[in-house]
Amino acid sequence: MRIAVTGSIATDHLMTFPGSFGDQLIAEQLDRVSLSFLVDDLQIRRGGCAANIAFGMACLGLRPFLVGAVGNDFADYRSWLERHGVDCESVHVSETQHTARFLCTTDDNHNQIASFYTGAMAEARLIELQPVASRVGGLDLVLVGPNDPDGMLRHTDECRHRGIPFAADISQQLARMADEQIRQLVDGAAYLFSNDYEKGLIEQKTGWSDEEVLSRVGVRVTTLGPKGAVIDREGEPSIHVAPAPERGKVDPTGVGDAFRAGFLAGLAWGLPLERCGQIGNLTATHVLERVGGQEYELGQKVFLDRFTEAYGTDAAAEIAPHIRCYHP
Ligand SMILES: Nc1ncnc2c1ncn2[C@@H]1O[C@H](COP(=O)(O)OP(=O)(O)OP(=O)(O)O)[C@@H](O)[C@H]1O
Ligand SMILES: [Mg+2]
Repeated sequence: MRIAVTGSIATDHLMTFPGSFGDQLIAEQLDRVSLSFLVDDLQIRRGGCAANIAFGMACLGLRPFLVGAVGNDFADYRSWLERHGVDCESVHVSETQHTARFLCTTDDNHNQIASFYTGAMAEARLIELQPVASRVGGLDLVLVGPNDPDGMLRHTDECRHRGIPFAADISQQLARMADEQIRQLVDGAAYLFSNDYEKGLIEQKTGWSDEEVLSRVGVRVTTLGPKGAVIDREGEPSIHVAPAPERGKVDPTGVGDAFRAGFLAGLAWGLPLERCGQIGNLTATHVLERVGGQEYELGQKVFLDRFTEAYGTDAAAEIAPHIRCYHP
């Protein structure tokens, strides 16, 4: 199964300020703020939803096609992704803009001041999927992940027009896209991914009920944080997928993306939906146990052992012939 993963590709610059932002803000002078925080920690993490998802799929042994827009500062990030098995040939490189960047400073009270620089991501709207499909011999599924809003609409339209099944994953962009646009992104999706909070927001924004959303998509996959995930299809009983036990919650950044990576891997291997959800859950716990969205390693033996522990021997036997982790 040939899967293209479209969406954001970004780096996160995370700083910590040893103090309190509140103490530096003078109530009478908020009309002329001029502050610089001396921070003592800088962590640079590879991120962006599409890159996180493609990375996770590659770690499980697939070769996903990453589609998104970056700047000419992408070289190091590209080699990291390619080393892990992600196909980056169809990544669009902007001639003028930098790769999207998330800059966030957190103080001692967990207050955050952050900015997201869109940069090259805005050029995602220039990307056409047909050349990607021609290059790789046709696409079986396109994930439309959070990205430049015009890019998301364009990819969805193109999939509909060319009859390529698509998976809608609107995530963070739900907040800023208009109701009509959300309807366009969801309607006719083969798969719809969201967390449970976003599920409610999708219903509110589209004006479609739970059942109506379900009637407009093939499969709806809703992640429930520590409660795992639920998979629905019209006219079928819900499939509740228990979470995979975590060995320590360190940082939730990227868990949703890792879930999608695992789920898509299961689909690519032709496994039943319950199995897809279980692979998603276990991939997500690996991310939960590390700081950052791509700092984890999947080991073939550990993954299968943990999968057996969580979901039993028979379930593990079904995934064993397919999974090919980068590490033994
Ligand atoms: N405490 C936990 N224990 C086990 N698994 C967890 C836990 N929290 C999250 N997960 C796994 O991660 C998946 C995605 O989590 P969640 O529903 O919080 O996604 P999200 O809200 O989209 O996250 P984000 O957008 O921050 O990546 C869940 O379906 C589950 O498999
Ligand atoms: Mg999410």
